[in-house]
Amino acid sequence: MTRSRRVFALDLGTTKVCCAIAELDSTGLRVIGVGEAVSRGIRKGAIIEIDRAAEAVAEAVDLAEQMSGVPVDSAVVGLAGTSITSQNSRGVVAVSAGHREVRDADVTRAVEAARAVSVPSDRKILHVLPQQFTIDGQEGVRDALGMAGTRLEVDAHIITGTNTAIQNVIKVVHKAGLDVDDLVLQVLASAEAVIGEDELDRGVIVADIGGGTTDLAVFAKGSIIHTAVIPVGGNHVSGDLAVGLRCDLETAEATKRAYGHCLQLTLPADAEVKLTPMGYDEPVNVPQRFLAEIIGPRAREMAQLIAEQVEQAGPPSSFPGGIVLTGGGALLRGFVEVVQQVTDLPARVAAPMGVHGMNDEISGPHHATVVGLLRWGARGRLGRSVDLTGRVQNGNGHHVGSGFGRWLRELF
Ligand SMILES: Nc1ncnc2c1ncn2[C@@H]1O[C@H](COP(=O)(O)OP(=O)(O)OP(=O)(O)O)[C@@H](O)[C@H]1O
Ligand SMILES: [Mg+2]
Repeated sequence: MTRSRRVFALDLGTTKVCCAIAELDSTGLRVIGVGEAVSRGIRKGAIIEIDRAAEAVAEAVDLAEQMSGVPVDSAVVGLAGTSITSQNSRGVVAVSAGHREVRDADVTRAVEAARAVSVPSDRKILHVLPQQFTIDGQEGVRDALGMAGTRLEVDAHIITGTNTAIQNVIKVVHKAGLDVDDLVLQVLASAEAVIGEDELDRGVIVADIGGGTTDLAVFAKGSIIHTAVIPVGGNHVSGDLAVGLRCDLETAEATKRAYGHCLQLTLPADAEVKLTPMGYDEPVNVPQRFLAEIIGPRAREMAQLIAEQVEQAGPPSSFPGGIVLTGGGALLRGFVEVVQQVTDLPARVAAPMGVHGMNDEISGPHHATVVGLLRWGARGRLGRSVDLTGRVQNGNGHHVGSGFGRWLRELF
């Protein structure tokens, strides 16, 4: 198996760092190694301690290498955090004289023009995601190639991150002994793994509920229209439980996973959970409904924050595909119902699709990002006729940050 048939992905999460290795074969993307380490040095998606984060990356990479017997020298890396912002931009170019038909080069120039939007000097463009084309005034063109016309415009969604946040991620990966093949916004990778083409066309919201943040990507009419990072995630639920139950975080986390629920009244009144609060020698019985009493308000707050972002993006009728919840936080029992109630949109929990092998290791919602990164990397390997991507230079002068979604590739 040659290097070019292999794909390596690295998800730097707030709770876990996950490395996955896959091979492209006749059956698609086959996962051959997965390694996971407890995250450290990363808070709310941002690197806060380079050495400790690099340690966690090296640990996850080692485990994936051991499992697969394949060395990892570079990876497609997911990026997140509150330093990420997005804006819309428009690029306008004249279609090259002579052929009066839109060609690859024209589309590339239009996207480059959209990319030339003014971005503060402390930020870099991570992605330029084309939304729609306009040819000689005719809006809503999804596939511009081959169309007749003289003036080509593109509306694009531009995602930027601060130089420092991007450089710190690259430093961590280098320190762990790897190069960065590509930097991809984590929620775009998650979306790549959990939604289908039809949902994308109908309009859908992907919410990746991680440990420290909830990351949103909103799609309508086949393209991305809004992204947001909400600085609240599953760890806040565990934190609330630790306070409410007067126990340590570890006990709170384990109790949440085993017995946590958002909806009190769906639980039997006599159901009890055994746990040992701080300062107690013996476990005590706590009604399961009491856990829900603590979890419920936080879950509703998170759903409310999601609803506010969705409102900013457009009316509910724009999103018949509803809300697709993924990330480990989506496993919280009753949360999908709370999101449905608060947003008045259909909601479902989704696990990643589109790879096979290692089902036990990589099939949960908390693996959506790493699976999406694998798919992203595989697409890069397969090559594209048009490279219309946001590019960021890394420390070695290599281009990084050159991915964009399947939904956009489809446009060309
Ligand atoms: N069975 C479960 N029930 C409820 N919550 C769960 C369950 N399993 C995991 N979680 C929660 O999911 C969160 C971690 O999710 P995930 O692994 O997707 O985060 P991450 O990618 O490390 O973080 P981030 O994306 O915020 O950087 C934690 O808060 C954890 O408590
Ligand atoms: Mg995550």
